Amino acid sequence: MSKPLQAIRGMNDILPEQTPLWRYFEATVAGLLDGYGYRQIRMPIVEFTELFKRSIGEVTDIVEKEMYTFEDRNGDSLTLRPEGTAACVRAVLEHGLSGGGQTQKLWYIGPMFRHERPQKGRYRQFHQIGLEVFNLPGPDIDAELIMLTWRLWKLLGIGDAVTLELNSLGTSEARAVYRGELVEYLTARIDQLDEDSRRRLSSNPLRILDSKSPQTQALLVDAPKLENYLDEESRVHFAGLKARLDAAGIPYVINPKLVRGLDYYSKTVFEWVTDKLGAQGTVCAGGRYDGLVEQMGGKPTTGVGFAMGIERLLLLIETLDKVPAEIARTVDVYLCAIGEAAELAAIPLAEQLRDKIPGLRLQVNAGAGSFKSQLKKADKSGALFALVIGEDELAQQVVGCKPLRGQGEQNSIAWDVLAEHLATSLKQA
Ligand code: HAM
Repeated sequence: MSKPLQAIRGMNDILPEQTPLWRYFEATVAGLLDGYGYRQIRMPIVEFTELFKRSIGEVTDIVEKEMYTFEDRNGDSLTLRPEGTAACVRAVLEHGLSGGGQTQKLWYIGPMFRHERPQKGRYRQFHQIGLEVFNLPGPDIDAELIMLTWRLWKLLGIGDAVTLELNSLGTSEARAVYRGELVEYLTARIDQLDEDSRRRLSSNPLRILDSKSPQTQALLVDAPKLENYLDEESRVHFAGLKARLDAAGIPYVINPKLVRGLDYYSKTVFEWVTDKLGAQGTVCAGGRYDGLVEQMGGKPTTGVGFAMGIERLLLLIETLDKVPAEIARTVDVYLCAIGEAAELAAIPLAEQLRDKIPGLRLQVNAGAGSFKSQLKKADKSGALFALVIGEDELAQQVVGCKPLRGQGEQNSIAWDVLAEHLATSLKQA
């Protein structure tokens, strides 16, 4: 027997009972970003592989081990995007959006793909909302990005469960000097390094700083510290950011080992982490990438941004029991019509209600059925009111309006005043 068809491991269906939470989250974020003047951009899900190699870095975990790369029918190497920054920079350059020093404050939402080992909070297809800002070089915009996430956590009721970790990586020149010193220190102690770190020593030594090996961490205690190699410009920038976060009353922790897994960062890097989700505790992460646009062929253009992992944030909202009760209800009114004549009368009535009550969520019974069975379906739909048209109601041109969630008595309402009556009742419910 052939195997039953299944979704790919680590790629999940989002089922109807989960989508109200997704839509609540997405609408909350979109509303917030409108309030800060960010504009949405939508990029393709597939790009040339070269784009990710050049931006994220050849020797990062993402590019080395995690990309879904394939050859298309033209023989081009394409990759399902593992993140959004690279494609956003590509789009900005391709359409001249940052030309002449123009400022851009952009956001995007969508699926990303990484061939990681799936576990709670880590998937092979996951979703991010990302923000990218171009041509604003100062720490004020770094602070704005962080402040708006802070506002979002509070709107979602998860503010107490997340901590902000901050670091500065300095300019690439400053980092090169530090990198040399770190490599020298670690090379002299290479026999004490774990295998992964040994490999990284020549390819990506800064990543050794966030090694999980206790032995390597012990070795790092006396290693040269990045903060002592920061250039003056980065130091001033970082101080400016901290002063703004202090002014906004946003608590943070400086984590000198925060280096991030993508190569394009410079100066500010940050992560929002939680201890409520187990191993996959980073819910939002980003930083400044002032050299990336130029590295990808554009004029010198500063950039800063972040992306949040939607699945992780939804898990956190659920874990903390912060799912708003009202989002579960997707039907306001359920219209029952018993018998064909009543069904025909219900059609214009339903359309009239939709015309007169904007946003009304009206479900019209489909599939006929007895009074009892239709009322059962009405109740199951979660609607606040059932409207009933039977033979008697039809003759009198009224509907029976039955509150389903214990708000008062059933009454008869004439067709011509039904919309007004219903609108008022829904407001009061
Ligand atoms: P990232 O740290 O690779 O950064 O991903 C950002 C967030 O996406 C993570 O903090 C996490 O919440 C979520 N995430 C990443 N991988 C997975 C996964 N396998 N399963 C579930 N969630 C995941 C970036 O992607 C950068 N492009 C962020 C950025 C924008 N930096 C500047 N601008």
